[in-house]
This record gives sequence, structure tokens and C-alpha cells, in this order.
Amino acid sequence: MSVSALFDTVPREAAAVAPTLTIRRPDDWHVHLRDGAMLKAVFPFTAAQFRRGIIMPNLVPPVTSVDAARAYRERILQARPDGSDFTALMTCYLTDTTAPDEIEHGFKEGVWAAAKLYPAGATTNAHHGVTDILKLAPVLERMEKIGMPVLVHGEATDPAVDIFDREAVFMEQEMLPLLKRHQGLKVVVEHVTTAETVELVRAHAGRAAGTITPHHLIINRTSIFQGGLRPHLYCLPVAKRERHRIALREAVTSGDGNFFIGTDTAPHLRSAKQGECCSAGVFGGATALQTYVQVFEEEGALPHFEAFASENGARFYGLPLNEGTITLEKRPCRVAAVVAVGEEDVVVFRGGEELPWALGEVRG
Ligand code: DOR
Ligand code: ZN
Repeated sequence: MSVSALFDTVPREAAAVAPTLTIRRPDDWHVHLRDGAMLKAVFPFTAAQFRRGIIMPNLVPPVTSVDAARAYRERILQARPDGSDFTALMTCYLTDTTAPDEIEHGFKEGVWAAAKLYPAGATTNAHHGVTDILKLAPVLERMEKIGMPVLVHGEATDPAVDIFDREAVFMEQEMLPLLKRHQGLKVVVEHVTTAETVELVRAHAGRAAGTITPHHLIINRTSIFQGGLRPHLYCLPVAKRERHRIALREAVTSGDGNFFIGTDTAPHLRSAKQGECCSAGVFGGATALQTYVQVFEEEGALPHFEAFASENGARFYGLPLNEGTITLEKRPCRVAAVVAVGEEDVVVFRGGEELPWALGEVRG
């Protein structure tokens, strides 16, 4: 079955002439494309929506060298659907032993677009991450000097910290001191989930920015327990209280240029989600744009959608805006509930539900 058939299972005839919204082609500034069979299965959804993606490096083993990043980029390009012009922007997985020279070399060669800071053990495949951010100072100083952004998974790793407080504790104990120590460093606070982190980003506008996922705009922490435990809604950072979801919706729809798309689409096989210990990650990549545009419409903010989707991120990274457009159509759409991967499958966030917006034509 083609991806377009998976994307949209409501017959087109069902809608007469749908209202449309045409925007500059957007980018996904935080995407887990994985590798191998999973890459092949999920990549078409990202490539159909986004012109570029910041590719997360938490493979097994993680992408820590320029050579590994080049090889991974090649595998991604090989897996690109026919006709796709998707550009993979690679990131370096920071560890306790990352060398400033490797960082600079990869950035100057045009391999790295940024580096990803996972506090050790904070999330999926983060056990090789950074155990002490203070010790990363030489790397961060070099990045500051060459204008390379650091992308931060902002959660405390102390198991004694309540899981719903881990972002807040990290922001106080690690992020604020880091921003103070490295005043010229470009920092992306990835997958912002709290009202207080929104304010932190705003207070450091210009040198800090935030990505916000589609799922954190739709679900709150209660959703994870709605009628029973919903493993496919479990991710890290975990969704927070309703007041935070409301703050995230305000942040993205406000027209504030410090926020941009980062889907954090993080597919796991059903067996990993429904096993004894559920892996963290929501596969939101197949319904991402449809979800974001719905949120903007619900908040009466469609005029701000293009900047959030297609301009703010590129400006922060210092990259050119994309040429070409994508049209979104206001007509009922249903994305497949699951995507097959070999003998198994991955459950699609909002898959099988009727969504009010569908993807239309991509030009240029
Ligand atoms: O839920 C998550 N899944 N959060 C992350 O930070 C990593 C991701 C993954 O790679 O599965
Ligand atoms: Zn992620």
C-alpha cells in the first residue's frame, strides 16, 4: 500500500471543495528516524510532510563521530522515498568523552547541524549521555564559539525526583546555570512540557528556543490513564497537567518566534510498547502537521501557523527558509491506525481517528 493510502483513508469524494491553507514547506526540528526496517517504514510519513529534519542520534550505538553521522545520513538518503528531496540534518550525541575538535570538524564539514545533550539515563538509549554537564564546558565553549546549537533533553535523572517534576528540576538545577555560564550559546530546549519552561525560553529569547510536540498539545497526564493504562501515549518527558497543555498551546499559537515544530516522533514496535516495561516514545510523525494545524485552528491562530511550522526554526538555526509550499485541506482525514514493520507494527498517534485536516499538494 502506498503511503498516501495510509495517510488518508477517507474517500476524497466525501468532501466537496475543501477550504485550504497553503504554507511554505515546513521542517521537523526533532525527529527519530531510527534505522533499518523501522527507518524504511516510518520515514515516508516524515518525508511527505517535511522538507528537512533534525535527526536524533540515539541509535544503538549512538552517533558520536563524524564518520558515524556520515554513514547514518547515507542510510537515510538511501531509504528516502522516490522523488523525495528530504534533507537530513545530523546531530552529534554528546558523551563524557566528546572532543571539542570532533564537534568543530563535523560542524565545519557540514555534517553536524547541532549536538544533542542527553543527561545520562534520561530516556531511550541515553545511557551513554552526559553524567556531569559542568565537565562538558570545553565542548559547549567551542560550540558557542562556532555558533553550533546544543539541543537539550531537559529532565533530571535522579530516580528520587518525581517523574512529573523532572523537567522543572532540570530547568532550575541545570538549564539556568548552563544559560548563565554560556551566554553566547544557542540552546534549544527540546519538547517543552511545562508552563514554567515556556517562560524560561521566553526569558532567554534570541539565544534559547523551544520545540513543542504535537502530542503534548493534545494529551495531558490524565490521558495516559484514560480508561486504563495507554502505553502508546507514554513518552519522555511525560505529559503534564492540563494547565501545562494549555500553556503549550498558548506558546505555539501566540506568534512567539521562539517556538517551532519538533515532533519528537519516536516509533517503537508494539512489542516494546506493550511489553513488561513500556519504552518511552509516541509515534506522532504520521499525523503531525494535521495535528498542529488543528490546534492552530482551534485556538483561532491560523495566521501564525506558517511561522511556527516553516520559519522560526530555520531562523534560529541560521538556515535558509525552504522554497516551495504544502497545502493543508480542511476535510475529514483518517490516517492508518498502525504501520507495519516486518512481522510487527507501530501504533500511530491519532491513527484511525477522523482528523479535521488532511495533507494536500506539495509543490517545489
Ligand atoms: O519518549 C521519548 N522517546 N523521549 C525521548 O527523549 C527519546 C525517544 C526515543 O528515542 O524513543
Ligand atoms: Zn526525542
